[in-house]
Amino acid sequence: MGAEIIDGRKVATEVKDALISRIEILRARGVTPGLAAVLVGDDPASATYVRGKAKACDKLGIYSEVITRPAGFQQSELIELVRQLNRNEKIHGILVQSPLPPHMDELAVTLTIDLAKDVDGFHPHNVGMLLIGRGELIPCTPHGIIKLLEYYHLDPSGKEVVVVGRSNIVGKPVAALLVQKSPIGNATVTIAHSRSADLPSITKRADIVIAAVGRANTITADMIKEGAVVIDVGINRIEDATRKRGYRLAGDVDYDGCALKASYITPVPGGVGPMTIAMLMANTVKAAELISAG
Ligand code: GUN
Repeated sequence: MGAEIIDGRKVATEVKDALISRIEILRARGVTPGLAAVLVGDDPASATYVRGKAKACDKLGIYSEVITRPAGFQQSELIELVRQLNRNEKIHGILVQSPLPPHMDELAVTLTIDLAKDVDGFHPHNVGMLLIGRGELIPCTPHGIIKLLEYYHLDPSGKEVVVVGRSNIVGKPVAALLVQKSPIGNATVTIAHSRSADLPSITKRADIVIAAVGRANTITADMIKEGAVVIDVGINRIEDATRKRGYRLAGDVDYDGCALKASYITPVPGGVGPMTIAMLMANTVKAAELISAG
């Protein structure tokens, strides 16, 4: 028996559709939600993500500005740009696409973002609020994963969840959400990472495996138990001369192998990726609601 495919595009469409009436209510009050996405440097993957985010805004009637700056842009200039966006009344959400060029300190930039406009949920204040179960602006990819589990009635309560990857963007916040005493929470969560000894013995315990390491084929079929739910956060570009653009996308999971053994699995593309964008739209609308309510 093959796994059921978790259709991130379908769920993302439903999440975005549910925002339309909230956007209309805001517009009737003279408020158009606005997102500013800042892209520094020329990383092609980041450029693709930012374009996707702006396109999603357009479709929903959310105002967006994509601000691109060269790789040599200085940190002080970026901080000044963020300060301007903090003051800009048309903008309710500010996103600085990660990774920034190596000469920049991402934390220094994140600390500059107005807490109420931090639609990535990366500011340490919002990270702390998430940890104590009071987050308003929840990081988009982790929140998208929770929505997928909810949609497919995959209740993590009492289950063993293994998160592979300890990033501040995905691994740590998704673990914090799943351990929470909340409807899609109450899991027993393990965070494994590159220094974990005997990763297969850890992942084999999992009822739900969340792969967020950024390396293709990290999770293979022999590493999961029969009937596990497999959530693949990876978006890796694999060189492929047979494709017009020269590469294909692969997750962190050996999809073909794991799909034979898992009960549910997310594809790449079309799994977690669209959810990240949908939750960004949701956070932008929420930020506009909270800011305009005063
Ligand atoms: N880089 C990879 N994922 C993300 C994200 O969700 N937000 C930002 N700002 N940068 C990212």
